[in-house]
Amino acid sequence: MASDFDPLDLSNGIPYAGLARLRDEAPVYKVPSGYWFLSRYDDVLAAAEAIDTFKSSFRSPGVVVPDEEMLVSEVPEPRHGWMRKIINSAVAVHRIGVVRPFVRDFAERLLDDLLKGGRGELINDYCVPIPNAVIAHLLGVPGKDFPLWARWADDVVQGDYATENRNERGVGFAGAFPEFSAYVDGKIAERRAQTDSSDDLINRLMTGKVQGKELTDVELRTQVIFLLVAGNETTRNLIGNILSRLATDPELYRELRERRELAANMVEETLRVQPSAVYLLRDCIKDTQIRGVDIRKGDKVVFGLGSANRDERVFENPDEFRLDRPDPKAHLAFGAGRHVCPGAALARLEATVALEVMLDKVAELRAEPGYQRERIPVFWSDGPVSVPVELVAA
Ligand code: HEM
Repeated sequence: MASDFDPLDLSNGIPYAGLARLRDEAPVYKVPSGYWFLSRYDDVLAAAEAIDTFKSSFRSPGVVVPDEEMLVSEVPEPRHGWMRKIINSAVAVHRIGVVRPFVRDFAERLLDDLLKGGRGELINDYCVPIPNAVIAHLLGVPGKDFPLWARWADDVVQGDYATENRNERGVGFAGAFPEFSAYVDGKIAERRAQTDSSDDLINRLMTGKVQGKELTDVELRTQVIFLLVAGNETTRNLIGNILSRLATDPELYRELRERRELAANMVEETLRVQPSAVYLLRDCIKDTQIRGVDIRKGDKVVFGLGSANRDERVFENPDEFRLDRPDPKAHLAFGAGRHVCPGAALARLEATVALEVMLDKVAELRAEPGYQRERIPVFWSDGPVSVPVELVAA
């Protein structure tokens, strides 16, 4: 394996051919920047579960975040486990059923508008609004505010805040994003003042206890914002990846219209082949060995989710997109172990409903002539910048 291969260089797209060679020849690989890169499924899975050895971290070295502003993913154990209980209960599967009719109705209205013109751009007009509206709905935020959330969430993901805890406007969340902070703080204050509290997501976050104590207002703001940010672009990219594939593969679109029962497999196979989160970053916090290679405390480690999902030791013909995989959910697109995505069921529901509504209402979905999928410019992520289409009503 040429030692100058850089799996983190995505300037020409995600280097899947190079990743396949890494899995065979150097599964624990030191990338030119000094990070370790894990490319095999088994290694990624085991390392994701080894929370005493690898700590979730995407901040630049030396960046200190006040305890109350730590995202749930960076809160140390055992507090992380307690906070996850609150977050899991807030985003719990049994409660998500109530979201289905909301997503369906919202997606139908978006598509009705698109069908009037017979064409549209599906990222802006379909994929962005759905996850935003859903999380805002769960948080009890008025519909007219959805576009604000979308813009703010994108600012957070696309800027330096996640790595530096600051951006050009300031330090810490309130400094870097004063409007977003003020808005969420206002919602929390409103909810605290309400006497008749409904049993919704924000209420669960407000009343859940860690060692007998509720979260402070700053902790609440941090986790509300993180839930929005974590579930926003990722879900948009999933829906975008599904639709960009279907818009360029009329055969597949026809097959799905005839066999609706395959919609869930379409979602899973998209998550496997084009996961929204391609890489996860960790700090090694205890000397360890993987496949005989020493990894030292303080080293940075990248989990190659995109590579693990195409590991030929686990998936037959892994580069092929197939709706008949025996275990469609075996991929690692939602991570694994204690940090496994708490929003997985919600994201699956949103993507499946968005797809079903498309299949119901649109007989033909065609990308504009000459369309070439372009990947968004976010280092760890994979989704299309745009999906311009022509649509024919069913
Ligand atoms: C297709 C959509 C999604 C994908 C691909 C995705 C992927 C992931 C992955 C890979 C992780 C693990 C990160 C790690 O181990 O460092 C994660 C964590 C997380 N996700 Fe998601 N996610 C999606 C949707 C959502 C949604 C809808 C929400 C919220 C409503 C959400 C909230 C979170 C949170 C809070 C964490 C941190 C959990 C922890 O560290 O304990 N995600 N997600």
